[in-house]
Amino acid sequence: MALEIGDFVSEKVVLITGGAGFIGSALTDRLLGKGYRVVVVDNFATGRRDNLVERPELEIIEGSITDSNMMADLFSRVNPDVVVHAAASYKDPEAWVEDAETNVVGTSVVVNESRKCDVERFIYFQTALCYGLHPEEQPIPIDHELRPRESSYAISKTAGENYIALSGLDWVSFRLANGYGPRNITGPLPTFFQRLSNDSSVFVMDTRRDFIFIEDLIDVVERAVDGEGESGPYHVSSGSDVSIQDLLEATLKAMGIELDEPIEVRPRGEDDAFTILLDPGKTHQQFPGWEAKTPLEDGVARAVGYYREFGIEETFTHLHMPDETS
Ligand SMILES: NC(=O)c1ccc[n+]([C@@H]2O[C@H](COP(=O)([O-])OP(=O)(O)OC[C@H]3O[C@@H](n4cnc5c(N)ncnc54)[C@H](O)[C@@H]3O)[C@@H](O)[C@H]2O)c1
Repeated sequence: MALEIGDFVSEKVVLITGGAGFIGSALTDRLLGKGYRVVVVDNFATGRRDNLVERPELEIIEGSITDSNMMADLFSRVNPDVVVHAAASYKDPEAWVEDAETNVVGTSVVVNESRKCDVERFIYFQTALCYGLHPEEQPIPIDHELRPRESSYAISKTAGENYIALSGLDWVSFRLANGYGPRNITGPLPTFFQRLSNDSSVFVMDTRRDFIFIEDLIDVVERAVDGEGESGPYHVSSGSDVSIQDLLEATLKAMGIELDEPIEVRPRGEDDAFTILLDPGKTHQQFPGWEAKTPLEDGVARAVGYYREFGIEETFTHLHMPDETS
């Protein structure tokens, strides 16, 4: 029988660790839409089961990346072409052992199995806190010194990134601004939504952050899965920061709420960063045409639509601070 255009479905197999989470599930949706086969491994520590819709091209394995026997069996059976390592532990700033187990030991398990399978590419997501809370320059250049000293999350994520760089694999580490959008459960936006939904008071800190909408983020990750961009670290950011007050105002607008009082703006603590702004120049150069396109108001409205439909089970923060940085 003659094949039709629609029969040319890609056989590429992508293994996504943490695929039930915010970023992993958005990428799963995107890659399944392209006809790829996707295998997700997730222990549902922070991921939600309803982030993934069962489909024949999607296999979901419930388990921890720290389980080296399970991971060895999984890799030898699935033989992935590309590995996207999105699993991470961060939900309790005091859970240093858990962070080290998942982010350091678990990452080395995933890296070692990827080497054995000779995967074409290994993709990672790194926190902007790898530069510390007081970087030397803003926007932060991609070659800024790494000094992740303020949190267990940043320390362990940076150790993981170092193992990846050591591996000899073709690797891409996306160092991210604050991701937001549907399924996001960290950072200020879900907290604002919850407090406003409960008629609780809201305030903002006098700080600014760089926000990246999930679909814009996935656009560049998808291109990296397809082999674009040379091996190394990249910033995924909008390239400009907004005040946390602007974010709250966009949330109020999306929820149709008018406050009786002006928004309370609290001075930031001594240890808080005024801004965390990542320079996306190298990403623009290596992924021509890519840029963050979604206006803040549109992205916030999409996130609010999701929270209304699916609710927020829990929100998490990995810093002991009133204002969170992802
Ligand atoms: N969201 C952001 O703005 C942001 C910023 C910087 C870096 N990152 C990184 O991006 C990646 C994805 O983050 P996210 O925002 O989607 O968070 P998320 O919590 O939604 O996703 C992480 C997923 O990893 C799973 N997981 C945790 N420990 C695991 C383990 N031991 N074994 C298997 N699965 C495990 C969780 O259940 C969850 O589904 C993480 O590596 C995170 O460090 C995210």
